[in-house]
Order: sequence, then structure tokens, then C-alpha cells
Amino acid sequence: MNTEQVGAATADNSIPIEAWNTILFEKFTRFKWVMTTGLSSHSDEFFRQHPYPTGARVLDIGCGWGDTAQLIGKQVGPGGNVVGIDCAANFIDAASADAKAAGATNVSFATADVQTDDLKGPYDFAFSRFGTMFFNMPVPALRNIKNALRPGGELAMIVWRKREDNAWIHDAEMLVRKLVPVVSHDETSQVHCGPGPFSMAGADMVSDMLRIAGFERANFQRFDSDICVGKTIDDAVAFAMAIGPAGEIIRLAGDEGLRRKDQVIAALGKTFAPHLRADGVWLPSSSWFVTAKRPGH
Ligand SMILES: C[S@@+](CC[C@H](N)C(=O)[O-])C[C@H]1O[C@@H](n2cnc3c(N)ncnc32)[C@H](O)[C@@H]1O
Repeated sequence: MNTEQVGAATADNSIPIEAWNTILFEKFTRFKWVMTTGLSSHSDEFFRQHPYPTGARVLDIGCGWGDTAQLIGKQVGPGGNVVGIDCAANFIDAASADAKAAGATNVSFATADVQTDDLKGPYDFAFSRFGTMFFNMPVPALRNIKNALRPGGELAMIVWRKREDNAWIHDAEMLVRKLVPVVSHDETSQVHCGPGPFSMAGADMVSDMLRIAGFERANFQRFDSDICVGKTIDDAVAFAMAIGPAGEIIRLAGDEGLRRKDQVIAALGKTFAPHLRADGVWLPSSSWFVTAKRPGH
């Protein structure tokens, strides 16, 4: 990868920001239980291996509802603090209200675009659970994060590995691609989420991005975990029709997506049936725990 390829991305982030603040916020809120429990299986293991030290200053990037920011706040204790940032004001409002209700006094939140905004460092650590794959301009965003860290500070980001090892959203995507015409982001006036959940799946490419952004000692650890996508087959089908690449294909297809809805529901039901256990529908997921340092001490 060279800087020209990086420069090919667009600086205008208004479309993904509107998507996260409107349709995606609504959908994620509808399936909040699936998202927070499923994604937590990855972050819980990360925090078990890498607890943040007492007194640390931590930035939580693309913090969503702020549950990870609250957990980090407990780890760093009253002498430390956590700032959660997200480009979607609706997520920040929800995160602030939840933290206030929980009495989390060392956690604060702000609406900011990681690509361009002042992240108000210095921080000892930056963390992100599945928030960095949606950057239109990943290298400028990573450079901005690096500049907000103190010398020797560490970035940790949890990102999805390849599609094929993430059946929890990819099985539905493969099926929907066969049944619904795929409309590209360039062919629609509808808002969309940006590059998408698998844009940081390639360790070679991401380690190049990190190096160009000024990080060193990039490290990738694989972690696998089954995710419950619904208590019943119907729940799992509703989830797949709304969230992830399958949900986005159906939404962006507009009327064509609606016309094929019954066919898609029936086919998704068959896809999920073999994965039904006594306590819900469970499918494999797989992430990278990526860590990298800002040079210095
Ligand atoms: C898949 S959600 C993950 C949310 C949360 N970290 C979690 O694990 O539940 C991705 C989040 O990244 C945020 N996001 C995407 N692009 C961003 C950007 N450029 N700056 C800040 N936040 C961004 C979205 O608004 C969204 O809340």
C-alpha cells in the first residue's frame, strides 16, 4: 500500500455519519442485546488478557452505547479516566445517559469524527471494539489516534477477521447475495455505513496502514467465539434481515429487496435451522485483537 492508494478514499464522511446516526442507530438499538452480548464475547477476552492499569487515561473509539467505556472506567478506577467518542450523536446521547444512570463518574463522552476531529489527548491507551473498520480514510484516522496518544501509548482495536470465519453474519450475506440484486454505494442515494465490517480483516494490509500512520510493533492475535444471533429462528432471521452485510444489501435494494422479502425469510430460516440449540441460534465469529504502539516512552 502507498500513500496514493490511501489518498483515493474520500474525506467527506457525512454519508456514513448520517447512516450511523439514523438507520443504523435504530437497527442496532432494536438488536442491542445481540450486539452487546455477541461483541462482548470478544472484548471480555481482550480485557481478561489486557486489563487497563489503575490511573490510565483511555480513549474508546467508535464507542457506540459506551458499555466498553464503562468497563474500562472500572478497570482504571477513580484516578484514571475514559473518554468515549463516536461520530453519531444518538449513540453518544445513549452512552452518556447509561453512564450517568450507572454512576460512572470517570467516564465521559463526546461526538467526534475520528478521521478529522481533535481527539483531545494525550491518552495512555486507545481502544476500539469493532469501531475502526468503518473509517472512509483509515490511515488519516489511525494517524489522528496516534497523535492523541502519549509517546509509548498503545492502540488496541478488535476487528473482524475474514468473512468465511464469521458465519454469524456471512452465511446470511451469501444467501441474500443470491436472492437480492446488490446495489453498490455509488449506485444509491441512500446513506450507508462506509467500508464495512470486514475492511480490516487482512492483517498484512492493516499492519501497513498502522505503519504508514506512524505506529510500530503491530501485533495480531486471533480470537474465535460463537455468537447467539437470536433466541429463536424467527429472531435470527429478523436480525440477519436488518444488520450486517445481508441487512445492508436488502435495505439498499429498496423495492427489489421488499419484493423478495418472503423468499429471503424462508431461505434464511433454513440456513439458521442447523444452528439452533436449546438456548438460541449460535454461529461462529472470529476477530483480530490488534495492538500497536506510538513510538517513544
Ligand atoms: C459496529 S459499531 C461498534 C460500537 C461499539 N464499539 C460496540 O462495540 O458496541 C461501530 C461504531 O463506530 C462508529 N463510527 C464509525 N465511523 C466513525 C468515525 N469516523 N468516527 C467516530 N466513530 C465512528 C459508529 O457510529 C458506531 O457506533
